Amino acid sequence: MISKNTIDSVFETARVEEVIGDFVQLKKSGSNFKGLSPFSDERTPSFMVSPVKQIWKDFSSGKGGNVVAFLMEHEHFTYPEAIRYLARKYGIEIEETQQTNEEKESANERESLYLVSEFAKDYFHTTLLKTEEGKAIGLSYFKERGFTEETIKKFELGYSPNSWEAFTSHAIKKGYQLEYLEKTGLTIVKEEKQFDRFKGRVMFPILSLSGRTLGFGGRILTNDKKAAKYLNSPESDIYHKSKVLYGIYHAKQSIAKEDNCYLVEGYTDVIQFHQKGIHNVVSSSGTALTAEQIRLINRLTKNITLLFDGDAAGVRASLRGVDLILEQGMNVKIFTFPPGEDPDSFARSNTIEEIALYLEEHSQDFINFKASLLASEAKNDPVKKAETIRDMVLSISKIPDVIKREVYIQECARRMDISEEVLFNTLAQILQKEKRDAGRKPKPESGEMQVIASENKTVTKVDVQFELERKLIELLLLYGKEEEDFEELLLETDEKGAIALKPETHKAKVYEKIYLDLQDDEIEFANDTFKEVYYAIINKLTQDTNFQINTLVNELEPGTAETISHILMEEEKYQLHNWEGKDIYVKEKNTSIAQVVSETILNLRRFLVSQKINELSNEIKDGDSADKETRLQDIVDYITLKKVLSEKLNRVL
Ligand code: CTP
Ligand code: MN
Repeated sequence: MISKNTIDSVFETARVEEVIGDFVQLKKSGSNFKGLSPFSDERTPSFMVSPVKQIWKDFSSGKGGNVVAFLMEHEHFTYPEAIRYLARKYGIEIEETQQTNEEKESANERESLYLVSEFAKDYFHTTLLKTEEGKAIGLSYFKERGFTEETIKKFELGYSPNSWEAFTSHAIKKGYQLEYLEKTGLTIVKEEKQFDRFKGRVMFPILSLSGRTLGFGGRILTNDKKAAKYLNSPESDIYHKSKVLYGIYHAKQSIAKEDNCYLVEGYTDVIQFHQKGIHNVVSSSGTALTAEQIRLINRLTKNITLLFDGDAAGVRASLRGVDLILEQGMNVKIFTFPPGEDPDSFARSNTIEEIALYLEEHSQDFINFKASLLASEAKNDPVKKAETIRDMVLSISKIPDVIKREVYIQECARRMDISEEVLFNTLAQILQKEKRDAGRKPKPESGEMQVIASENKTVTKVDVQFELERKLIELLLLYGKEEEDFEELLLETDEKGAIALKPETHKAKVYEKIYLDLQDDEIEFANDTFKEVYYAIINKLTQDTNFQINTLVNELEPGTAETISHILMEEEKYQLHNWEGKDIYVKEKNTSIAQVVSETILNLRRFLVSQKINELSNEIKDGDSADKETRLQDIVDYITLKKVLSEKLNRVL
């Protein structure tokens, strides 16, 4: 785990406008920055960054939060990945907690492996572009395959010289240790001798989701039948071939935006598609698709389209992939290429519009895919047909969502001309068997719908209360520490017994005023997020009066932090439209803060009192008469209180 210290210093150092500036073009706009939303295709900027509050908000998609939330949203990092990214950007050393010496060592070792790989990537790339041998052999090969210079640079393709240890000796001269060269597999060590693993090959660096170099694929350039066409980095502490997808770094944005991921077989397929302008594509690079690879895609989209060769191997690969994808609750489509074509050749010989249209029209769901396989081999064979149907139901049984399952059963029945009833029975049998096989603990059916009986809350009460609670949170966040003059209206009874309100002014901080008033009436927030934020603020401030409330965003869990950011950014919305410039009146903030605070608290109290009165009246209506007396008295008391509150409100307004 990353230590609290490291996280704190990351938040202290990182500037949201600098970090976002690496991804979005930002223009100064008043005290904020604005730019085009990176989450939608918009023409007029609605994306705001506040350097003062250190948060951002995208008014087109409604997303927002602090610097880490941006990286999680935009780069699809996990929380720790985002912290590590920022630490690297700002040169902050990452301190890990609860690490044994052994763990520390292995973390350091992994870091060394990354560095060596990064170095190798640059070396191969430079060799390709700058040396005579690289240009004559590697570069001309790539050009012949139709890769443009831009593509070659984007994917940082490379060339490894055709000599036994050109790379290894260069790396050692630059201070990289043989140990790490060997562990990454870049160098093969045999007795006293060292060899470059990728000698004479063109190089495809394999990057992680966050852009770190994990390993390489190297393609041979000669027609040597004995040597493998592609050679890949061996498994290491940083390279696990079952967990990587070639192209994921360059594809992630587009996968999220298009809400679909094309999965192809090879390196060149990915690159060729990219060059054509289809960016949401990755490759499992010759290995059978794994659950981990699918999970990686699942972070970005729920939809995968498998693009495989129409040959037997391609079909087998697709079939294996289908169930794995369904199991993770994702949707899968299958597209097989016409004989003799693969994505590479297909992309080269068609325009982007043709490709898009063709893919759209010829992608099949798994039912139709399996049905067409049957049709092509043994249409009229009843045994084969029965097998196919069983196989379809088996796939359907992998789907966690019951509604989807049902829809597919219907589709299968229609397509295969068989009754739904039989299919449902088969499905039930399969599920039963699975349950038995899994022993006494059936796996949780995550996607299954659950109907939860709604508690008897009245719906109408939520809105007013929600708004008032939200306002209080906003006041706390924006002005919590400010000291204000609050006018208290004290209740007095004069000699004649009439009730009067006597004003008295006293100084208090906004948060103290809110806290004490709410505590007096034992008021709790109804909204859980607000409640959490409220207590977080109060606790922080009572422990440390120097606490900067706007840094609170960094300490709350992402969902809560997002809520706060929305509240904080609300007022910035006006700036986007530049209403002042258009002579449109915008609510001014010159009513005193104290007034607004008092008004909000009073409103909330009055609201709750009205609610109480309603509750009591209802109880009287359908309750037994025994308690009637006391309840009536309570109601009278509450009505008096409500009057007082209303009076106070009139005075404040
Ligand atoms: N592959 C591999 N080792 C091999 C052959 C293939 O790792 N000996 C992987 C590579 O990732 C390759 C993918 O499987 O990209 C698909 O193989 P293939 O279709 O043979 O290669 P292409 O990508 O089409 O390569 P090329 O067009 O350069 O022949
Ligand atoms: Mn090919």
